[in-house]
Amino acid sequence: ITVFVPRDSAAVSVGADEVAAAIQREAGDAVRVVRNGSRGMLWLEPLVEVVTERGRIGYGPVSPAAVPGLIEAGMLAGADHELCHGVVDELPWMAEQQRLCFARVGVIDPLSTDDYEAHGGLRGLRTALERDPAAVVAEVTESGLRGRGGAGFPAGIKWKTVLDAQGPLKFVCCNADEGDSGTFADRMLMEGDPFCLIEGMTIAAHAVGASEGYIYIRSEYPDAVSTMRRAIDIAYAHGWLGENILGSDTSFDLFVRVGAGAYICGEETSMLESLEGKRGMVRSKPPIPAITGLFGKPTVVNNVLTLASVPAILADGGSAYAELGVDRSRGTQVFQLAGNIARGGVFETAFGITLGELVDGYGGGTRSGRPVRAVQVGGPLGSYVPAGQFGLPMDYEAFAEAEAMLGHGGIVVFDDTVDMAAMARFAMEFCAEESCGKCTPCRVGAVRGVEVIDKITGGDDRDGNLALLNDLCELMTDGSLCAMGGLTPNPVRSALNHFPDDFSSGAATQK
Ligand code: NAI
Ligand code: SF4
Repeated sequence: ITVFVPRDSAAVSVGADEVAAAIQREAGDAVRVVRNGSRGMLWLEPLVEVVTERGRIGYGPVSPAAVPGLIEAGMLAGADHELCHGVVDELPWMAEQQRLCFARVGVIDPLSTDDYEAHGGLRGLRTALERDPAAVVAEVTESGLRGRGGAGFPAGIKWKTVLDAQGPLKFVCCNADEGDSGTFADRMLMEGDPFCLIEGMTIAAHAVGASEGYIYIRSEYPDAVSTMRRAIDIAYAHGWLGENILGSDTSFDLFVRVGAGAYICGEETSMLESLEGKRGMVRSKPPIPAITGLFGKPTVVNNVLTLASVPAILADGGSAYAELGVDRSRGTQVFQLAGNIARGGVFETAFGITLGELVDGYGGGTRSGRPVRAVQVGGPLGSYVPAGQFGLPMDYEAFAEAEAMLGHGGIVVFDDTVDMAAMARFAMEFCAEESCGKCTPCRVGAVRGVEVIDKITGGDDRDGNLALLNDLCELMTDGSLCAMGGLTPNPVRSALNHFPDDFSSGAATQK
């Protein structure tokens, strides 16, 4: 009997290790417990899956104390129970997704090379290695894949810039400094299918002529760090990394580097500074990293999900990928539902699904049961979108038109008790805290922003200070060197535009 219990840190944080131990203790040698990634239905974690002839039957959330009773009730034979959800792949949450990037996450043992290959792993890399670099870049360009870190820059164009740059030494750097609030898909991919990221980075290396790669992982992700390190060791042992990969002429060495807790190191140039062993300060652009990147060499910097999307693109063709999605947002996005939400987790589907379908539909509305008032999309620098705009399709340009930002696909839900002036204040406070300090609009502007919002909500010359806040937002947008200061006005302005009443004095105390 095979039983899956996730090793994903979200599942472990609610007791998955203890549940796995309890199952092994109760059932003994009769069961083989496999530690998989999470399926992404976080409200069901720890989700135990039992392999049966009907498929993998899910039970959750399972506590260690519930294990003896579940086993007695016939869980190991897939028997019905109040915690039983039936065949996991047939649940609407799973069945209605289009999982390309996350196809194996939660399904396989993350560190089993057999599992990886049995579920389509290495098909993309083998295809890539048979082609010359320019053809691989062309395939990625045809797919329409855009940077999943948030900015949505076309990956194929970035790769072509690096391919065309001259020089004996080039790098591929994976940005796994997933610092945005409400985002956790990078972590889940690294913990649940690390070989997919290794495969994507190796394809990128072959495509641009890079010989070395670095995965920059935030220190808050110790499980992702150890899983990636173990996966890299295993990949070397199997000839998937190192000299002459899979018998080809391509060689690629890959290393993990751990951040030190600065949000700004998610910005690509400060990440490069940090990788070089310096303090994470933003560099002026141009030159762009594609031309002058790590140690001054041409460098691909891509997010985890951008690179992890590449194996499927090479395996099934760029045009198949491009068939999914809407307008200039092609393929799938791994949306992350968080905050005050009944069913939080990851949901991978083609661009074009509406915000409402995700939040009210799959997410089931708020966890508190109160009405949704607003959601923040795209991290702490993203705009607040009121529930009235839930018809908005998940599409980079549609969001930009609505003065919002899709970003990394994280959606944080708030109910009607939220104080939007406090959220606007928090945005400025966050910026003041995380600013690298290089430019004045951000370093000083964010501190002034907190003060001026306090004056507005305190009733001190409200109109004058509102005008001042607008002016400050404009200055930060236009004058900041990077997205940190440049995008902080997004949450502030959207809160002001959609919820002006929250900024009147005494509004917070009335709530
Ligand atoms: P950007 O628009 O300046 O650049 C996007 C990417 O395209 C960069 O890698 C840049 O080097 C590259 N690029 C630009 N022109 C190029 C060219 N001609 N050839 C090749 N490459 C080129 O955006 P930036 O400042 O890198 O990122 C801002 C975004 O980051 C925001 O939109 C936000 O959504 C996102 N963000 C994500 C966070 C996360 O945790 N994932 C945290 C904070 C912000
Ligand atoms: Fe640094 Fe802020 Fe300027 Fe970015 S905007 S360079 S984080 S001071």
